[in-house]
Amino acid sequence: MPVPAINFGPLLEATRPDWEARLRELFTRQQFILGPQVSGFEAEFATATGADHVVGVGNGTDAIQLALRAADINGEVLTTALTAPFTGIGILGAGCTIRFADIDPETLQIDPADAGNRLRKKTAAVVPVHLYGQPCNIAAIRKLGLPVMQDACQAHGATAGGKALTAWSPMVAYSFYPTKNLGCLGDGGAVVTNSARLAAKLRELRDGGRRGGQVTFVRGINSRLDEMHACYLRAFLLKLGEWNEDRRRTARLYDEGLRDVDGVRLIRRTDESVCHLYVIRAKRRDKLRAFLSSKGIGSGIHYPVPLHLHPTYRECGQKRGDLPVAEKASREIISLPLWPYLPESAAMEVVQAVRGFYGA
Ligand SMILES: Cc1ncc(COP(=O)(O)O)c(C=O)c1O
Repeated sequence: MPVPAINFGPLLEATRPDWEARLRELFTRQQFILGPQVSGFEAEFATATGADHVVGVGNGTDAIQLALRAADINGEVLTTALTAPFTGIGILGAGCTIRFADIDPETLQIDPADAGNRLRKKTAAVVPVHLYGQPCNIAAIRKLGLPVMQDACQAHGATAGGKALTAWSPMVAYSFYPTKNLGCLGDGGAVVTNSARLAAKLRELRDGGRRGGQVTFVRGINSRLDEMHACYLRAFLLKLGEWNEDRRRTARLYDEGLRDVDGVRLIRRTDESVCHLYVIRAKRRDKLRAFLSSKGIGSGIHYPVPLHLHPTYRECGQKRGDLPVAEKASREIISLPLWPYLPESAAMEVVQAVRGFYGA
C-alpha cells in the first residue's frame, strides 16, 4: 500500500459537514474579506491558544514580518539556522538584518548557549522556532535578555514549560499553510498576543495601514486571512486536539519501531511536542529516501540547506563551517509520513521498510 508523506483526504471528510455549512453561509453573505468567519476564527483560536487576541493574516511569513514591525524591532535578528526559509524572509520583510544560531544536536532546536555567543551590539531580537512541533528551550532564550518573537508556524496546540506560548513573548506567529497541524486550503497565518495595543497595531498593519475606513495611517501591507479559509480553519480547529493526539500516536509507533536500528538516530522530543513532523537522522539518507520512494513511501527533508548557506541570506556573513551542527543535521535528516488518520498498518509498513533498508 503506498504511504504518502501527507494526505488531506481523511481530515477533509471528517470535517465536511462543518466547513460545508460555513461555506454556504459565506456564499449567502458574500462578504469575502474580514467578515464574521475571520473574526469568529480569531476568537476561537485565541481560546485554543490561551491568548487574548488573534489577528489573522495572509500567511505565516507575514505574521513574522508584522509581529516584528508591531514591536518596532530594527536591527539584527537572530534565529535558528535550521528552519523553513520563510522564517528568514519574514525577518528580512520587516526591514531587519539576519544572523543565525546553531542547533542542539539532540533536539535540532535552536541552541540557547550558541545563540548567546552570537549576540552582538546590533542584535535587536531573537526569533526562536518551535521546529517540528517541539517547543524549543524558550526559557533559556528569554534569559538572553532581548525581545523575543516566537515562530510557532509548526507548533499549533503546543505549550512550553506547561504554559501558553504567549506567556513567553508578547507575540507568537503561526502559519496555516495546508500541511500544518492546523492548516487551511491555501495560504493563511496569524499573530497571537495578549496585548490589546499590539493587536490593534497588527490589525492596522495587515490592512494597508487603514483603521476601518479608506484612509491609510501607516505603511501597512495587504495581508488578511480570507473568509473562505476561516471557514475551513474553524472546522479543523475543533479537531486539532484529536489530530495532535493521533500524530503523537504515530510518532510513538515510529519511536518504538526504529529505536534499535543501527543507522537511525531518533530526535529527542518531550510530551509537549505536537509532532508536526517525524524526523530522524539517517545514515545514507538520500539512498534511504530513494528506497522508500521505490516502495511507494513518501518522505521529505526539513530542511536540506541551513539558512546561512542560502544565497538570499549571504549578508549574514556566516559561511560553511560556521554552524557545524545544523550543517551536519541537514545532510542526515529525513521526515517520515505523518498525518492525522495515518493507519497504524501504514506506519508499520514505513517502519518495516526503514528496518529493511538497514538490514535490521
Ligand atoms: C517554521 C516556519 N516558519 C515560517 C513559515 C512560513 O509560513 P507560510 O508558509 O504560511 O508563510 C513556515 C511554513 O512554511 C514554517 O514552517
